[in-house]
Amino acid sequence: MIKSVITSILLATTAVQASPALTERALEKANNNDHYTLPKSDRNPRARASAIEVKRKGWQYSEYPMGVAYYPTGTLANATIARDEAEWLPPILAKAAATDKEGPIALEAIKSKGGFKKLEDYVNLYDGQWAESFPEGPIPGILTNFTDDRTFSMMRLSADPYRVQRVKPSDKLLFPVDDAAAITGLSLEELQAQGRLFLQDFSEMKELDPTDKFGAGCQGYFYIDPKSDSENDWMLAKMLQNQDSGWDTTWSHISRSHSAAEAPYLAAIRTLSDSHPVLAMLNRIEKTPWNIRPLLEDGVVSGAAPDSGPSYYAWTSLSGRTWANQVYSSGETANFQSNYYRTFLENRGLINSEFGPELKHFPFYEDVAVIVESIREFMAVFVNSYYSSDSAVSRDSELQAWQRETDVAKVYDFPKSIKSRRTLIDILTHQAYLGGVVHGVMSTNGAIGDTTSLPFAPAGAVWQVVTYAAANRYSWKDTNETLSYLFEDQAMLSKMTPQTRLAAKKFKSTMDAFSKEVRARTFDKDGLNRGMPFMWNVLDPNWAPYWSVV
Ligand SMILES: *[C@@H]1O[C@H](CO)[C@@H](O)[C@H](O)[C@H]1NC(C)=O
Ligand SMILES: *[C@@H]1O[C@H](CO)[C@@H](O)[C@H](O)[C@H]1NC(C)=O
Ligand SMILES: *[C@@H]1O[C@H](CO)[C@@H](O)[C@H](O)[C@H]1NC(C)=O
Ligand SMILES: [Fe+2]
Repeated sequence: MIKSVITSILLATTAVQASPALTERALEKANNNDHYTLPKSDRNPRARASAIEVKRKGWQYSEYPMGVAYYPTGTLANATIARDEAEWLPPILAKAAATDKEGPIALEAIKSKGGFKKLEDYVNLYDGQWAESFPEGPIPGILTNFTDDRTFSMMRLSADPYRVQRVKPSDKLLFPVDDAAAITGLSLEELQAQGRLFLQDFSEMKELDPTDKFGAGCQGYFYIDPKSDSENDWMLAKMLQNQDSGWDTTWSHISRSHSAAEAPYLAAIRTLSDSHPVLAMLNRIEKTPWNIRPLLEDGVVSGAAPDSGPSYYAWTSLSGRTWANQVYSSGETANFQSNYYRTFLENRGLINSEFGPELKHFPFYEDVAVIVESIREFMAVFVNSYYSSDSAVSRDSELQAWQRETDVAKVYDFPKSIKSRRTLIDILTHQAYLGGVVHGVMSTNGAIGDTTSLPFAPAGAVWQVVTYAAANRYSWKDTNETLSYLFEDQAMLSKMTPQTRLAAKKFKSTMDAFSKEVRARTFDKDGLNRGMPFMWNVLDPNWAPYWSVV
């Protein structure tokens, strides 16, 4: 028995050593059932190293017209991009067919009901429409309760938390509000000193190339006040800020979610063996990422031509691309560690603030914490099952090469070293967060259901639904494309440790339980859910896809 095993290992070794220059074809075909291994326990380190060399040649860096992170090119990269397309494109074509059919019907229905005369008429845009493209419409409450001041304020703490911050006592105020005391009972300086003043600043948008539509790069102050909920208060100001949020969601999510994850992934492909468990995990998390930018670039170019149809935003699509690159290269959206969700929220004074009152409700944080801490728990088991100590992490030559490669790949703010299990767990947890959570909130089911829902975020009615429906994935509700299934890839799990398989089961059942909780949410006697006049269900783990779909 022992002998025959040894013989077959020797045979395999001989076979590989007979052809040290593994061809790309052989690499592509190397699809065996061997368990993933760390470099030090690979029984054939030479073959492993030469396979990595082949990969480095076939996956190179290139610039892409869309900009942001490097884009992969080379024979292997191109083959993967082409193969991925077969999986990635059909659902998008199906969505396009549905909106092509349903858009004109929705338009007719609006016309036959007299068009849009009052804000309330916008309910007709969704009512009984979009059976396939957007059957449930915007999230519950957002269409009926948008005049309630808390809808706007709580959207900053759920649907779009990325540009709001608590003003620090030492910050310079951006503009005066002379009648602040008349509005709030306290002057702006007093609110600031008490840590009750918040800011959302989109002012740089005023520099973008305008279209003929109305919009403005806005700055807005908010303050904590237990009583303010008067109807139609500041309605125009809020709608303009929402428009900025919609623009932010559309353009900055490209880097906040997609590119922030793609850059370290490309570096990993170039340094980790396909037999490395960490690359196997990244391959699962980063599903078909390279097809997104060609689609976006097409959209930018077709939206840029003067006769290419209506552009409903206040700024051109070319300036959208410029702006996306600006927030990427400044590090704001793409910095790796400073965008770890807790670090990010702490830096913005939204959690664990050393000054000012705690936020009574923070739905984004509450939901994200459940999901991300469950991901972290899974990753901890996974990592600990492969590395028995921190020094085992330091001794993994491929992981160390990955860390060095992130410099070449221009990953901003990646950990300066990977010398502990904790660092690796943080990295992998963040990668999963970027695709599943950030994309889920800023795009997939988020944008169309909240930040770009009409009439509160005005752009161009039917166009707006058609555009954002491309991301929404109602048809994947309760399927294995959702967050609950993030690790449910049996082919992958079967080649991993038993501890990892158990942790995957636990993750799945935690997510199922959380999904039940999300679906059981109701409006309380004051018409609120966790302080919100709407039901924020965007991260329901049996509905939100686990990856950045489009
Ligand atoms: C990969 O695709 C890009 C974009 O189409 C092309 O420019 C490049 O030449 C291709 N590279 C190889 C090696 O096929
Ligand atoms: C997900 O479900 C589909 C359809 O039921 C199935 O074909 C596919 O293999 C599943 N994917 C995984 C990774 O289990
Ligand atoms: C918000 O909308 C829901 C559903 O339309 C309603 O039940 C609830 O009372 C509303 N809340 C407020 C504060 O108006
Ligand atoms: Fe996206």
